[in-house]
Amino acid sequence: MTGEAIAALAPLGLRCEQRTEPLGIDERAPLLSWRLASSRRGDAPARHRVRVWDESGALSWDTGWVSDPAAVSVRYAGAPLTARTRYRWEVAVTGRDGATAEAGSWFETGQMSPAAWQASWIAHDTSDLDVVDAPEEGEVALADHGLSPAVRLRRPFQVPAEPPVRARLYVTARGLYELRLNGHRVGDDELAPGWTDYRDRIDYRTHDVTGLVAAGENVLAATLADGWWSGFVGFDPRRSGAHYGTFPQLLAELHLHHADGRREVIVTDGTWRTRRSPIRYADLLKGECHDLRRDTPGWDRPGFGDAEGWLPAQVTGDDHDLLTAAVAPPVRAVGELAARTVTRVGDDRHLVDFGQNFAGRVRLTARGLTPGARVVIRHGEALDADGALYTDNLRTADATDVLIGGDDAVVVFEPRFTYHGFRYAEVSGLRELDPSDITGVVLHSDTPWVGEFACSDPDIERLHRAIVWGQRSNFVSVPTDCPQRDERLGWLADAQVFLPTACLNADVAAFFEGWLREVRGAQSPDGCFPNVAPRLAGVADEGAPGWGDAGVLVPWHLYRVYGDERFLERNLDAMCAWVDFVHRHNPDLVWRHRVGPHFADWLAPTPTPREVVATAYFARSTELTARAAGVLGRDDLADRYGTLAGHIRKTFAERFVTPGGRIAGDTQTAYLLALAFELLPGGNGGEAASRAAERLAELVEAAGPGVTTGFLGVGLIAPVLDACGRPDLAHALLRRTDPPSWLFPLRHGATTIWERWDGYTDERGFQAAAMNSFNHYALGSIGEWLYQGVAGLAQAPGSTGYRELLIRPRPGDLAWARATYTSVRGVVATAWAREDGVLRLEVSVPPGATAVVHVPTGDPGGVREGGVPVDGAEGVEVLGTGPGTLLCRVTSGDYRFTADDPMIAAP
Ligand code: BGC
Repeated sequence: MTGEAIAALAPLGLRCEQRTEPLGIDERAPLLSWRLASSRRGDAPARHRVRVWDESGALSWDTGWVSDPAAVSVRYAGAPLTARTRYRWEVAVTGRDGATAEAGSWFETGQMSPAAWQASWIAHDTSDLDVVDAPEEGEVALADHGLSPAVRLRRPFQVPAEPPVRARLYVTARGLYELRLNGHRVGDDELAPGWTDYRDRIDYRTHDVTGLVAAGENVLAATLADGWWSGFVGFDPRRSGAHYGTFPQLLAELHLHHADGRREVIVTDGTWRTRRSPIRYADLLKGECHDLRRDTPGWDRPGFGDAEGWLPAQVTGDDHDLLTAAVAPPVRAVGELAARTVTRVGDDRHLVDFGQNFAGRVRLTARGLTPGARVVIRHGEALDADGALYTDNLRTADATDVLIGGDDAVVVFEPRFTYHGFRYAEVSGLRELDPSDITGVVLHSDTPWVGEFACSDPDIERLHRAIVWGQRSNFVSVPTDCPQRDERLGWLADAQVFLPTACLNADVAAFFEGWLREVRGAQSPDGCFPNVAPRLAGVADEGAPGWGDAGVLVPWHLYRVYGDERFLERNLDAMCAWVDFVHRHNPDLVWRHRVGPHFADWLAPTPTPREVVATAYFARSTELTARAAGVLGRDDLADRYGTLAGHIRKTFAERFVTPGGRIAGDTQTAYLLALAFELLPGGNGGEAASRAAERLAELVEAAGPGVTTGFLGVGLIAPVLDACGRPDLAHALLRRTDPPSWLFPLRHGATTIWERWDGYTDERGFQAAAMNSFNHYALGSIGEWLYQGVAGLAQAPGSTGYRELLIRPRPGDLAWARATYTSVRGVVATAWAREDGVLRLEVSVPPGATAVVHVPTGDPGGVREGGVPVDGAEGVEVLGTGPGTLLCRVTSGDYRFTADDPMIAAP
């Protein structure tokens, strides 16, 4: 059905370092991976061979034939890779039938070492930046905020005779850059080079500019803005210098390879000229102001003779030690939203509704502009009771863009160095605004989408879409809490609770690999993980329970999803140090000291005792650290942390669990943590666990049924209820429409997940503006269960890289559901539908994988596959029956089960 349409076993989707044809990697032993597809049941790779060639065609590596039916990746271990070189590689895979198929791809190395860099950091003369202009009407007060203009930099160079056969640009900035070569934009990255703790590491990116360099005069040009480096970040009212730096700087090298073998390098240095740009300021939170009267057309092309205002670039340093090739995908403009409505709200004022809350900015065609005329664009997520733009919840983020007219009457304006979280835009200064003249430009880290979910209930589909939009809006260079107010920080708990859902929607391996560098980098020397990463200077940061623990939970989950042990190798030391830190300060194993700002089960309607939350997380992190050590063969550590985890569980039970099975606090989250983290005596099959499960179900029922958790419990509730045999309650929670519930916001116009269950209510209106985001993904962690429960598409416990699947749909009273997920191994799909008393279940299992399938049915004995009784079906092994279920194991391939509808036989 949804399997990739290939007859015999074939490798496809080749990637290097989790990316397709990456340009400019610094990894010396890159991971080369492929997916598999085959239409034959039971197909699996019998053997594989990978070969890598350098540019001269010499073989750099040959794995030889390797028999490994599990392999879908290898780590390069050939001749040392050289810098700035393109390598071609091929994988050949032989299937069970002996036929071999091949596929090829390439990767290219970057600078490989800080020592390779020759360029200097350059900036605009800072004394010229200090001369700030008085703000004009509608502009953010420049003087108040100390914002300075974005600057332009340019450097002409000559290419004699022939254009080069290859040209590569290696570039980064302290601040944000946009590059141009001969008037053409270089690359399509936005907000580059993204956000890192620039004091520890600075990502650079590589661009292929071969097609842009011409014979004769060329001009390499750039615009630089403050961004996270020297702009406003988070809720800290201080700006420049408070966090990373005070003014933006550029570092770039253009490497030209000529046909005759000559190489030439153009670098940023004191020969560049710089000037204030027409962007009077550009700030991620405040917004951006373009004054077209100050434009200098042609500045980025050859033949530009205007020297006015151009100053020699200031060289600010030659340090390259912090430079590393970016691993995370860049932020890109990934989509556009048409204006759904444009309403005139004043003489020259219009309110635009894009129909979707998102992160990005607008592209506006302004008509009838005169020199000095100003157009002001404000952004907001909601409208107030009078139908006006509501911006109170943005706090100090002005989120206002300004265009000041120059010579042209018609101008297409799109800010370059800011983004906003909004659904509505208010445009002032234009008498007419046609809907076709304004477009929403959606920005986010360009993670490939790998999951699809659909079902017969439009409300649940809307919920899924809102969750996906929450992910889109908040994966902007780093995983943020929200895209609109003066925050947008990489909060660790938000990321860890949402991660399982995020992984099903998109391939986030490289994105989180980048972020984990920040998490590790932000760990204190004594082992304490932070609450936010990238770390912010000046923000006191000691990881709270559930927040700091993300440093353990995130690498572990990524390892399970992607099967890449490097997630554990790179993080194991940090994981151990974190557990040691908590242990050192809490030798009696109840985590109550050094809890940072202890956010507990953040925003829960019913709070759970802080020590219960903390100690549960302490046990979980310790257990996962032990398992990670075990995977890596570090038996000493596995034993040590495994034993410690056992002691913490014992302490948890002694301190917080009564003989009757009640857990201190008696809240949903208390039981959820205990069950999800397997903290109860006897494990999850034991007596204590079944009493906890019963009590959890009682609490859920007593609440409506309803959910009363905050951030730390919310992602666990449906999976745990399901595992406890109460998927009916999980369905009931999904369907509920009054708060706290997922459908309440959707019934009130939400198009993304709200920060709070009651961000708005009919009785009260908006929640306190001080903390009320309408685009926060944490409560969207229910998304995992839509795939795993409703559609029934899951990885089996204990499996990694989707080698073993668990297909266990929970139909509830829905008519149908389906999900598709492109795993590292290949496409996994489930689809079920019930009609006329018959339930049909279709399953796709990728080559080399197996699945345990739970066919929901009123009559386990009557289940058929492909029209024949299951016990005779090819590739199907019947394992047994459960209440209302037939259990079987299937090998790879596509299967079609039919069964009696479970609803009909339901008690
Ligand atoms: C953020 C959260 C975060 C929390 C810490 C809030 O301001 O928006 O999502 O996890 O602080 O409690």
